Amino acid sequence: MTPLITLRSAEAADLDTLVRLEHQVEDSLPSRDIFATDEREFYEPIILGAGHILLAFDDENRLAGASVIRFPAQNDPENLGLAMSLPAEELARVRHLESVFVRPDMQGRKLAERLVRENMRLTEEAGRTISMATAWPGNAASLKLHLRLGLYIRAFAFKYGGKPRFILKSGGSADLTTPPVLVRAMDIERHRALLASGLAGVAVHSSDGQSVPLVEYRPLTKKTERPSPDKKINELRSFSDIGKGKA
Ligand SMILES: CC(C)(COP(=O)(O)OP(=O)(O)OC[C@H]1O[C@@H](n2cnc3c(N)ncnc32)[C@H](O)[C@@H]1OP(=O)(O)O)[C@@H](O)C(=O)NCCC(=O)NCCS
Repeated sequence: MTPLITLRSAEAADLDTLVRLEHQVEDSLPSRDIFATDEREFYEPIILGAGHILLAFDDENRLAGASVIRFPAQNDPENLGLAMSLPAEELARVRHLESVFVRPDMQGRKLAERLVRENMRLTEEAGRTISMATAWPGNAASLKLHLRLGLYIRAFAFKYGGKPRFILKSGGSADLTTPPVLVRAMDIERHRALLASGLAGVAVHSSDGQSVPLVEYRPLTKKTERPSPDKKINELRSFSDIGKGKA
């Protein structure tokens, strides 16, 4: 039977449990390249307002997953917008879908999608209208998740101590009138060439008979970003009524 899942905002008292789950998830993966973990110090400012952490609990009140959204400063050297040379005004509107992880026994039930969608909704009044994320090129589950959330693969970089990462960004829509180009997930040079030529990764194909996912590239057609809402971060703080935690 599908367990009943409850979502709520994280508070400081949750951070040790959060970090423990993150390490449990990391230990379950075949390679350390797939998922970069963070420590308590990274999450503390997010809890205090530089973003929002949404937690999922199972029916035994055990932590089942988390979505971390962070608002990087315009001049933060880690602002993912820098990888795409976004202008200063747009850097100030970037929010990072920083991390999402689900307890191994709870994976494959769309819990990650539920968590991130809800966290995006909860943070949408913050004026951060550009969503960005990173994913290891072979992480089909993470790529599919972020593509479903409306992001596209737009750039490539070595991050988190030299790990290969796609940089994904919201905005635009795939031009389905042009023929797709398919690239094996770990063919890094080909990805870099296609991204540099202006194409975007718009879908990921994997099946049981295919251990290496294929990334589908197409041009993007322009779709204007949503304008910044007038109601910004102050209103965001008021949503803590629905959960707990925000200072
Ligand atoms: C990535 C992760 C959060 C997804 O959580 P989840 O709740 O299992 O995800 P979902 O059930 O919403 O599945 C997302 C998609 O990935 C697919 N998927 C799941 N596991 C997969 C796998 N091992 N290989 C290929 N595709 C997979 C699902 O079928 C789904 O695809 P669809 O959108 O076409 O239906 C989870 O696998 C996880 O915790 N991984 C380790 C941490 C990590 O890599 N986090 C992302 C980087 S921050």
